[in-house]
Amino acid sequence: MASTRRATTPDKISAPHGFVWGVSTSSYQIEGAAREDGRGPSIWDTYCAQTGRIANGDTGDIACDHYHRYAEDIGLMRELGVNAYRFSVAWPRVLPQGRGAVNESGLAFYDRLIDALIAAGIEPWLCLYHWDLPQALDDLGGWTNRDCAGWFADYTALIARRFGDRVKRFATFNEPSVFSLLGYGIGGQAPGVTDRSLLLRTIHHVNLAHGAAIDVLRAGVPEASLGIIHNHQPCLPASDAPQDAAAARKFDAYWNGAFPDPQLLAHYPPLLADFIAPYEQGGDLARICRPIDWFGLNHYSPLYVQAFDGNPLGAGFGPVPPEVPRTSIGWPVQPDAFRDTLLAIHERYRLPIYVLENGTANVDEVGENGKVIDQPRVDFLKAYTTAMFDAMRAGADVRGYFVWSLLDNFEWGSGYSQRFGITYVDYPTQRRIPKASFHWYAQLIKATALSAYSGGG
Ligand code: FCB
Repeated sequence: MASTRRATTPDKISAPHGFVWGVSTSSYQIEGAAREDGRGPSIWDTYCAQTGRIANGDTGDIACDHYHRYAEDIGLMRELGVNAYRFSVAWPRVLPQGRGAVNESGLAFYDRLIDALIAAGIEPWLCLYHWDLPQALDDLGGWTNRDCAGWFADYTALIARRFGDRVKRFATFNEPSVFSLLGYGIGGQAPGVTDRSLLLRTIHHVNLAHGAAIDVLRAGVPEASLGIIHNHQPCLPASDAPQDAAAARKFDAYWNGAFPDPQLLAHYPPLLADFIAPYEQGGDLARICRPIDWFGLNHYSPLYVQAFDGNPLGAGFGPVPPEVPRTSIGWPVQPDAFRDTLLAIHERYRLPIYVLENGTANVDEVGENGKVIDQPRVDFLKAYTTAMFDAMRAGADVRGYFVWSLLDNFEWGSGYSQRFGITYVDYPTQRRIPKASFHWYAQLIKATALSAYSGGG
């Protein structure tokens, strides 16, 4: 088992010229304005309205009110010194029914956001899908319906046409394995379905949607740099029992392999292939495996897996060994696993890697002096960026790093009870307070820019 590494200070580490420093967010988690200016409902609006789904009955209705406060939030990014901002477009904001009539006010919001980013010298990285499927499409089966790949391609064409003159970095999906497995297989996320056959269909249809969107983007924005964002977590057995070892292998196939393998290697993991086969049509793998330019990696921790009869996978999240430190949300802190993951992804897929999410939840409080001293987050980020630099020295081709997240925000099933931001959000007033980790990150970016070496990225 990996141990926690000692963190070095920012001045002991350096990045190659051109290394991208950024922050990430997503539409449903920060925008709010859920019923404003013609936005249609998403599956997350529906899911949040169901009793017992979200901690404290929280919803994304207001979230960080970023829809109205985006200019102030870009001001924070400038203060940080990031060169890039990864956000997602809310599909139901621009196509309230998911297809058909376009909502001009929704597109205009992203125009304002993109223009303000560019004016601030911050490159927009646009993710097409961070889990907020239009409810109207879910009513037609959503991802369990093969037609959803075509609806996604049409939505992608709209985005390419409208923003392709200014946006040159696109990701198709954020963490397809997370929203597919939790949304359609083992529970815990919208739309809250647990059904083996619907899960298998969803996996295949999301893969088809990815391939179709890549084709649309290549044709519409030929000079763009394209990728997809995967959450890769080493799956470790929660005990020495052989059934937990088998469960960990199976979980790894679904969680880490079901999307990147067909997309980049043109095959499903062997443990999965026979189950997906009934939903495949001739030529599908060629439709899915389209050349992309980079691998977006989200990484927080390894996973401890145990055999479990209560879901269609026969495997589920197990306990973290007591000796492993954990964050406030319970996720293990193991930066060595991050270094190993970067090297493993580099070896397996041979693409430049952008770390598009890394960060930690923490119990943050505003002190009497008005400051938020989130030392555990500073320690976490130091240890994880150090692990990344170790991986780069060992040969991993890492071109950028984005912290999750710029702001505290709506953390899915945990609602607002878990804070992941480097900026504190006082939800009743929407006041933003940069935390100690914000200042630490700004210093890291400055220090690495000063000591940047040539070669690499
Ligand atoms: C990732 C999600 C992101 C956020 C972080 C903490 O899995 O992509 O939206 O919730 O976890």
